[in-house]
Amino acid sequence: MPKRYIPAAILTLALLATGVAGYLVPDENQKVPVRILFDNSGGKVVFAHLTHHRKYQIACARCHHESGQDQTPLPCGSCHPASFDQDYVRDHVAAFPDQKSCVKCHHAEFGELAFDHQAHKAYAGDDCRACHHGPDIEPEPGHCKDCHTLTGDGNMPNLRDASHRRCAECHKDMFDKGVKGCSPCHRMKDMKGYQGPFTPCRQCHQAPNHQLILNRTNAFHDQCMQCHKKEGKGPRTDKDCGECHMR
Ligand code: HEC
Ligand code: HEC
Ligand code: HEC
Ligand code: HEC
Ligand code: HEC
Ligand code: HEC
Ligand code: HEC
Ligand code: HEC
Ligand code: HEC
Ligand code: HEC
Repeated sequence: MPKRYIPAAILTLALLATGVAGYLVPDENQKVPVRILFDNSGGKVVFAHLTHHRKYQIACARCHHESGQDQTPLPCGSCHPASFDQDYVRDHVAAFPDQKSCVKCHHAEFGELAFDHQAHKAYAGDDCRACHHGPDIEPEPGHCKDCHTLTGDGNMPNLRDASHRRCAECHKDMFDKGVKGCSPCHRMKDMKGYQGPFTPCRQCHQAPNHQLILNRTNAFHDQCMQCHKKEGKGPRTDKDCGECHMR
């Protein structure tokens, strides 16, 4: 190494050491459990929590992926419940100390619609019925949301499906992209510091909630196993159940 690089290298190493120490030594105020016992139907699991952090040198945030360095981590189950049923919807708000965690899941809200009505009259060759109904339903063309509600009503589709069906006549390509294709028409709100109200996931996602967020058992199994596989260490195959579970 050329001489003039040595001071820089020492400085870098010093900074690196401080950085590593900074994240290996937990904040004084944080209680870090040494061991955690999971009592479950697959057989008890004793998890060497502190060993994973200290000895295997795993940063808190790699497992507690919801938290910053400065906050006490939440139990995984407050976000990964046994199932996303009505009890969860009713009780989950109380499981969080403040509003900061909400946007982890309630991550998107639509703002204004980007739609140039004037231009579209021309695109449709002044055929209002490319989008609007005839006079049997709409005496005068008007706002779709005057009749189509968010939930729908009998054989009247909800606002999303009614509008999308018309727009898709010409913009099938946007809808083919799934959730990646919403933004040309829907401007997204800035979610930093957003405090609600929250739109139910199912209004934007056609997939059920448990396919969007892992349930409790899968959250544990996936996190433990994915890391063990990646590191090539620790119990990680279908034959290793007994290395975690006591039967
Ligand atoms: C290898 C993964 C892993 C690492 C690294 C890790 N934790 Fe944990 N921690 C867990 C799991 C899993 C639980 C159990 C959570 C549960 O019961 O829902 C837990 C539980 C906790 C709890 C108890 C939470 C509660 O109320 O149930 C605290 C506090 C905690 N960890 C703090 C830390 C801190 C601080 C660090 C870094 C110094 C850290 N953890 C590093 C995986 C980890
Ligand atoms: C504040 C809510 C919250 C908490 C607490 C939380 N998660 Fe998650 N987790 C999520 C959300 C939301 C996703 C899906 C979006 C994403 O990937 O960020 C997710 C994704 C995951 C995934 C799949 C993606 C990945 O990172 O591999 C695993 C596994 C997981 N969580 C395990 C855990 C475990 C284990 C804990 C506790 C140590 C935990 N989570 C705590 C909200 C949370
Ligand atoms: C782990 C992900 C997650 C976190 C974190 C979360 N929620 Fe939810 N929330 C959901 C799911 C899933 C539903 C059910 C939505 C559905 O059925 O489409 C829901 C539903 C709701 C509803 C009812 C919406 C409706 O009209 O049906 C409200 C209100 C709500 N959450 C508020 C909050 C608040 C406030 C916070 C933060 C304190 C929060 N949520 C944190 C996942 C989460
Ligand atoms: C490409 C689809 C499309 C075409 C074609 C179209 N409209 Fe519309 N129109 C809409 C949508 C969507 C709304 C609701 C917009 C909203 O609520 O912000 C709307 C709203 C309206 C409204 C009420 C809002 C306003 O701007 O006052 C009137 C009136 C209207 N259209 C008249 C017409 C007439 C007349 C034609 C034919 C010359 C026409 N539209 C052609 C989609 C269309
Ligand atoms: C005055 C009330 C009213 C307004 C305004 C209205 N609709 Fe409807 N819409 C209805 C009713 C009622 C039905 C059910 C009619 C049926 O069963 O044939 C319906 C059905 C539909 C359907 C399903 C049947 C079909 O025609 O394909 C679509 C799509 C639709 N509306 C789109 C729209 C769009 C897009 C707008 C705005 C540009 C709009 N509607 C404005 C009342 C309205
Ligand atoms: C009759 C065909 C037709 C219908 C129906 C139609 N559009 Fe369009 N739209 C066009 C054309 C043509 C353009 C301009 C060329 C382009 O960008 O594809 C356009 C452009 C757009 C753009 C700008 C494209 C971009 O990439 O930024 C938006 C946003 C848009 N339309 C929204 C809508 C919405 C919302 C509806 C349903 C209410 C709708 N369109 C229905 C034909 C249509
Ligand atoms: C081609 C334009 C277009 C695209 C692409 C599009 N939308 Fe829409 N969407 C509309 C229009 C127009 C409305 C009716 C809004 C109104 O009248 O206020 C609407 C309404 C909705 C609504 C009900 C109103 C609300 O704000 O809650 C939801 C939910 C929605 N869209 C979700 C989506 C999602 C999710 C995607 C991406 C998968 C998407 N949209 C893609 C044009 C589009
Ligand atoms: C207002 C519409 C809207 C609501 C409400 C919404 N999402 Fe999403 N979601 C989106 C959009 C748009 C994307 C795509 C973002 C991107 O990739 O640019 C997305 C992406 C995701 C992804 C990434 C995986 C995927 O499907 O591409 C997950 C996971 C997810 N959302 C979960 C949730 C959960 C859980 C809720 C409810 C607690 C929720 N979303 C509520 C619009 C929404
Ligand atoms: C981010 C990486 C990571 C995560 C997440 C993780 N582990 Fe590990 N685990 C390791 C590594 C690395 C070893 C191997 C250490 C060695 O053999 O030197 C290990 C070893 C183990 C061992 C055998 C040795 C011992 O210390 O007991 C068990 C049992 C274990 N892990 C359980 C778990 C459980 C249970 C979870 C989930 C709650 C989990 N691990 C999550 C990295 C991880
Ligand atoms: C790396 C450690 C690890 C391995 C390997 C492992 N598990 Fe688990 N398992 C856990 C943890 C941690 C939990 C979560 C306990 C909780 O929910 O409190 C769990 C939960 C379970 C549950 C409880 C489901 C419930 O709802 O109560 C079952 C059943 C289970 N595991 C079966 C298995 C089987 C079968 C295998 C082997 C194919 C296996 N596990 C391998 C760590 C492991």
